[in-house]
Amino acid sequence: MRLDQFVANSTTLSRKDAKRAIAAGRVRINDKPCKQARQHISAHDSVQLDHQPVAIPEELYLMMHKPAGVISATTDSNQATALDLLPGELAAQVHIAGRLDKDTTGLLLLTSDGQWSHQITSPRRDCPKTYRVSLAEPLGESARKQLEEGVLLKGEDTPTKPACVVQHADTLLDLTIHEGRYHQVKRMLAAVGNRVTALHRQQIGPVTLDDDLAPGEFRFLTDDEVQALKG
Ligand code: URA
Repeated sequence: MRLDQFVANSTTLSRKDAKRAIAAGRVRINDKPCKQARQHISAHDSVQLDHQPVAIPEELYLMMHKPAGVISATTDSNQATALDLLPGELAAQVHIAGRLDKDTTGLLLLTSDGQWSHQITSPRRDCPKTYRVSLAEPLGESARKQLEEGVLLKGEDTPTKPACVVQHADTLLDLTIHEGRYHQVKRMLAAVGNRVTALHRQQIGPVTLDDDLAPGEFRFLTDDEVQALKG
C-alpha cells in the first residue's frame, strides 16, 4: 500500500494532508524519514508520524480491485486467492464480505469485523450490488423487463427480486441486484436466454470501486465508507 494512503487511513489526516506531512519530513518508515508519498509499505514496516507510531486500526476494512483468475477464498493450496494479494499480517486478520467468481473482476470488500460483513451479505439487509455486464447477445426489451421484474433461476422455486437495469449498448449493461445467490448474475442472464462474457462489480451499497486501484491493488476504506455500509 502507498505510504500516503496508509497514513490517511490510519490517522485523522486527509489524503492531501497526509501527502503534505510526508513532504514535510514528518513521517518515518522504520526510523528513517521518507518524503515519498508513493513509497510502498508492507505490514512489516513500522511507520511514525511526528515520532508517534501510526498503528493499523483495530478493526480492518479494505477494498480490493479483484483481478480475474484469483478465487474469493481464504486459503487454497492449489489456486491463488484474493487474500494472497494482501501482506501476510493483514491477510491473517480479514475475511471476504461477498464473494466473486474466479473470472469476475472488481470490488471486493474484506474485513475483520464479522457484524459489518453480515450487513453486506445477509439477504435480509437488501444491500444492493451493481455489476457491469458484457453479454454474448444483444439484450432485448422483453429480457430486460424480465430482469427488472424478477426471473426464475434454474433449479430454484422463487424468482429473483426486481433488479435495476441500465443499458449502455446492445450487449453492455449495469445490473443492480439486492441478493447474493450463487452465480446470480450469470444465472439471471442465462434465464433470459443470454450469456455473460465478462462481469465486473462496480459498487456495493454506497461504496464504489476506487478508480485509482489497479487490478490486484487494495486500500483501507475511509471512515465514511465504513459507516455508510453500516446502513
Ligand atoms: N454473480 C455472478 O454470477 N458471479 C459473480 O461473481 C457475482 C455475481
